[in-house]
Amino acid sequence: MSDTFTKLAYETVQQSQSYFALAHKTIGSREFSPEIETEGYPGYYLQNFHYQTDGYLSEMSANLYDLQVELLFNGTADAMRQRILAPLKQGLTGFSGISPRQIRVLDVACGTGRTLKFLRGTLPLASLYGMDLSPAYLRKANQLLSEIPGELPQLLQGNAEELPYLDNYFHAVTSVFLFHELPALVRQRVINECFRVTQPGGLLIICDSIQLSDAPEFKVMMENFPAIFHEPYYKNYISDDLVGRLESAGFTNIESQVYFMSKYLIARKLA
Ligand SMILES: C[S@@+](CC[C@H](N)C(=O)[O-])C[C@H]1O[C@@H](n2cnc3c(N)ncnc32)[C@H](O)[C@@H]1O
Repeated sequence: MSDTFTKLAYETVQQSQSYFALAHKTIGSREFSPEIETEGYPGYYLQNFHYQTDGYLSEMSANLYDLQVELLFNGTADAMRQRILAPLKQGLTGFSGISPRQIRVLDVACGTGRTLKFLRGTLPLASLYGMDLSPAYLRKANQLLSEIPGELPQLLQGNAEELPYLDNYFHAVTSVFLFHELPALVRQRVINECFRVTQPGGLLIICDSIQLSDAPEFKVMMENFPAIFHEPYYKNYISDDLVGRLESAGFTNIESQVYFMSKYLIARKLA
């Protein structure tokens, strides 16, 4: 990897660091406004990831999220999301015998709906589905997706550990920036669920942070990230065997791609 690239990556993190250091001083990592209802959510979820006020559980957090993520990634977040589109289109060619309207794609942990917006642009006729644990983020997603042409994606609140869909239902499943925010065992449960709802011949595409084995030169940065940005599961994530997890769920033919600070895993379910 070139020196310029490494320098750019360090500068990216340093610039956002000052913003997050301020947040670190003012907000506790598990502090929520008194009016926030936290009952019924898994313990690992009740965190202020990247010191977001109210975690994922308020309208204010949902309104700030997109800007905050772009600050964190210095304007590259949408570009990272869009990297799933080419392998997705490629992976769906196996279903070229059926009408584009019959194609069903699920975005797991869809957040404010930005990935679904890009999916709609690439698959204008497909049935799109999004699910997330946060009602506030889903309301925000509904707002964004209502503004774009085409059928509105179906949005559902739920836990990705128990996806509220039938077995073998989707031709493709995507998930962006979720896995580094999950404890290891939950990561496996979610992958197992993605496998269950994917049709034979279909695929899962994960987009998330690079891991230690992808770019050892970023080791220091990756090791500092959890403390600076309050990402309690990131340290485990960067050395987790995601390919092994996908294989143990039943996925095969797993391909890994790395671009800048993001990584993509493209996994198939045998036809
Ligand atoms: C870092 S955000 C990513 C959101 C979106 N995919 C994006 O590209 O910005 C993580 C998302 O995962 C959701 N999430 C975390 N744990 C979840 C779970 N167990 N089930 C469903 N959604 C979950 C959060 O509510 C949040 O919207």
